[in-house]
Amino acid sequence: MEILEQIAKEAEANTQVPAYRRSVEKVIAAVMSSSNFWRIVDLSDEPLPLVAEILKLLNKRDLVAFEGTQILLTEAGAELAKKAGIEPFASHRCPTCKGRSVVIDELKSAYEKFLKIQENRPPAIHQYDQGYVTPENTFARVALADDRGDLRGKNVIVLGDDDLMSIALALTGLPAKVTILEIDERLVNFIKEVSEEYNLNIDARVHDLREPLPEDVVGAYDTFFTDPPETVEAIKAFVGRGVATLKGERCAGYFGVTRRESSLDKWSRIQKVLLDMGLVITDLLHNFNEYVNWDYYQEMRGWQLTPVKEPPKDIWYRSTQFRVETVRGFKGFNDPIVGDIYNDAESSTT
Ligand SMILES: [Fe+2]
Repeated sequence: MEILEQIAKEAEANTQVPAYRRSVEKVIAAVMSSSNFWRIVDLSDEPLPLVAEILKLLNKRDLVAFEGTQILLTEAGAELAKKAGIEPFASHRCPTCKGRSVVIDELKSAYEKFLKIQENRPPAIHQYDQGYVTPENTFARVALADDRGDLRGKNVIVLGDDDLMSIALALTGLPAKVTILEIDERLVNFIKEVSEEYNLNIDARVHDLREPLPEDVVGAYDTFFTDPPETVEAIKAFVGRGVATLKGERCAGYFGVTRRESSLDKWSRIQKVLLDMGLVITDLLHNFNEYVNWDYYQEMRGWQLTPVKEPPKDIWYRSTQFRVETVRGFKGFNDPIVGDIYNDAESSTT
């Protein structure tokens, strides 16, 4: 199937995103499964700019048609898929835990309080590249960390708290201490108010994570949570900050990495950075995190790239949950961060 290789090559040249024959196959399989652009990005698990480009190249060769807001395989496209042995996606995800491997069970009463509290949260804003996960997702993350023994009696820090992790953690009463550092004053104030009302004792501070950490948080925590922007440099910096807050060996960190803005080539570099920091990747849970659609989608780079203009309706932005643990010789990163570390060729939501 030379045409698949050709399209991959051309798409890579046009986007600077690594593309393989398999990338093209996955986009075709996604079109066989859905006619909605956002769902096609979601299913194909390739970076948005690459999916958009592959669709345009398939369209140029009359293999895919754009009809209104729909993306459809043409007769020629269906024939090619058949010849290449490309089939629609099949899913066998567990419907009970949605593939997350944990359920909320005994944390339910805290979860119900959380559901009510988060209704009044400040909306996500573009200025800070915000986007938050569903409340159920936030709590599943708490359940995961408790399942791995990272919460009970532990000092826990959240670096950037769009997801209101600090409130969820404190509501369970499991950690000994919960601290958050967050650049957005609106969020910090909201968390402070909730903390006071529910007597949660959350240590919430306004802090720009591009600056080095406040001295008293360095080496003081057992577990960190963060949700870094999707560039190798940003992951190195933000996860590095998290590692710098840890007390020592065999402490844990949690963060998400997506496929929507990161190719597997980038993943490979990210994983090397993690290993070089003295971290072991103990868990990788695909599509664990699902982000509530944000209002500023028309301002994001991805919107310019879409071949059909339809606002996302269902959740399409997901990420893989990483859990890492420190071993002997680990090393954090607490230098000032300079320059733009938020954008690369694969970005689409900035
Ligand atoms: Fe399950």
